Amino acid sequence: MNKKIIVCSLLLAFSAPLLAQETSTVNLNVNEAKTVIPKEIYGQFAEHLGTCIYGGLWVGENSSIPNINGYRSDVFNALKELKVPVLRWPGGCFADEYHWMDGIGPKEKRPKMVNNNWGGTVEDNSFGTNEFLNLCEMLNCEPYISGNVGSGTVEEMAKWVEYMTSASDSPMARLRRENGRDKPWKVKFFGVGNESWGCGGNMTPEFYSDMYRRYSTYCRNYDGNWLFKIASGATDYDYDWTRVLMKNVGPRMNGLSLHYYTVLGWEGSKGSATQFDKDDYYWTMGKCREIEDVIKRHCAIMDSYDPQKRVALLLDEWGTWWDEEPGTVRGHLFQQNTMRDAFVASLSFDIFHKYTDRLKMANIAQVVNVLQSMILTNNEGAMVLTPTYYVFKMYNVHQDATYIPLNITCKEVPVRDNRTVPMLSATASKDKDGKVHISLSNVDADNEQTVTINLTGVKATKAVGEILTAKDMTDYNTFEHPDAVKPVPFKDAKVNKDVLTLKLPAKSIVTLELQ
Ligand code: AHR
Repeated sequence: MNKKIIVCSLLLAFSAPLLAQETSTVNLNVNEAKTVIPKEIYGQFAEHLGTCIYGGLWVGENSSIPNINGYRSDVFNALKELKVPVLRWPGGCFADEYHWMDGIGPKEKRPKMVNNNWGGTVEDNSFGTNEFLNLCEMLNCEPYISGNVGSGTVEEMAKWVEYMTSASDSPMARLRRENGRDKPWKVKFFGVGNESWGCGGNMTPEFYSDMYRRYSTYCRNYDGNWLFKIASGATDYDYDWTRVLMKNVGPRMNGLSLHYYTVLGWEGSKGSATQFDKDDYYWTMGKCREIEDVIKRHCAIMDSYDPQKRVALLLDEWGTWWDEEPGTVRGHLFQQNTMRDAFVASLSFDIFHKYTDRLKMANIAQVVNVLQSMILTNNEGAMVLTPTYYVFKMYNVHQDATYIPLNITCKEVPVRDNRTVPMLSATASKDKDGKVHISLSNVDADNEQTVTINLTGVKATKAVGEILTAKDMTDYNTFEHPDAVKPVPFKDAKVNKDVLTLKLPAKSIVTLELQ
């Protein structure tokens, strides 16, 4: 352990008695509210990986687990309540080995395939294009299709777009009709490859730029369907990728993606999802907050080529990445989800809301049973909603609301890897009906905070909402105890004239509506 780490650890270890009476202030700048937080910031991602699709979203019509036309009923209902705005599929790395024609037509005739990216699992292709797009319709969410550039042909991609969206008597529309679907689906978001610098083909940005130009040319807009074409973007700190794509592709793309995981590193152990100490917790907060700097730097490059902000930035993979749960299949990325993950979600949203002039979508990885999931399921038909699920639910009031900029004054704590973590994080918005919502996270693991919020410009006499907290930061929900961590009504908020005062318990997340 180096000196700095010891100092940080000591600071954290001894902070409790010193900071017990923490106070923080928030100023809402209501008059500066102008940018709408696109609902797609609350997007999800479903890859053919582990039990995300098979066992998670899809069990098939003949399963003993209750289902609606093959979709797991409990998962479907939980997602419906979450108001999922957009769902990305079929990958991830899987997308660049997926051949969509293997996943259409009578199920018994569909060939099996090996999922080479994720544990070599054999899949029967029973969940394909029709099943995915029908699910999106049932959830009332936008589909986001990731096309295969790495191992697929231009023709294959072009025909996929035609199959999904052509309304005419075209060959692929006829094939769709033979498969029982007359009307085309509405497909807006289309990704031309995924991680093309890595699992999507190990390309250079220059080579991929040309591939993008070629493949995207043949992704046509059929019969009133307009595709929002997304180029495969950088990971983390790879600013060169963004620079080259902006220079070589520019407005031929509607969006450029970015991936950022809260992960210890790509080699060796990523750390346990459930067994960690306070030092690890604060490190996680620091790493997750670093996405702000990463977004700013990618945006600055995009601004220099595209000051009018025609090309959107889409963070289509983000979230925590821990070691797989002991006893689960290697390569299936099944991980538990604690209060620490809940904070990664709330702090990330607080940051995303600030950059929605350029950042137009974010898709957490992933929706069920993979990485920082909303939902965990088992084969016996049990389901668990994770602390992250509850943050998404508490925050969905911000979908399509106008962001209210705010300033925070609070305690900041130095943490491992030369980062600093403020003990309070917050975001606010005004929805279409004029209702103001504010979400606050008391990041401090030990101390309550008294928070004073200046409400000048907001008419309110009371604030009502919910709080998510737990006895320990390592608490999580299990199949045996599914309700260990869940939100309850929050009663500790008072409005007096233009000031809202609340007491936030240690390690708590609150969303309030001002009334
Ligand atoms: O989300 C898991 C994987 O992470 C995705 O397949 C890939 O795009 C990324 O590396």
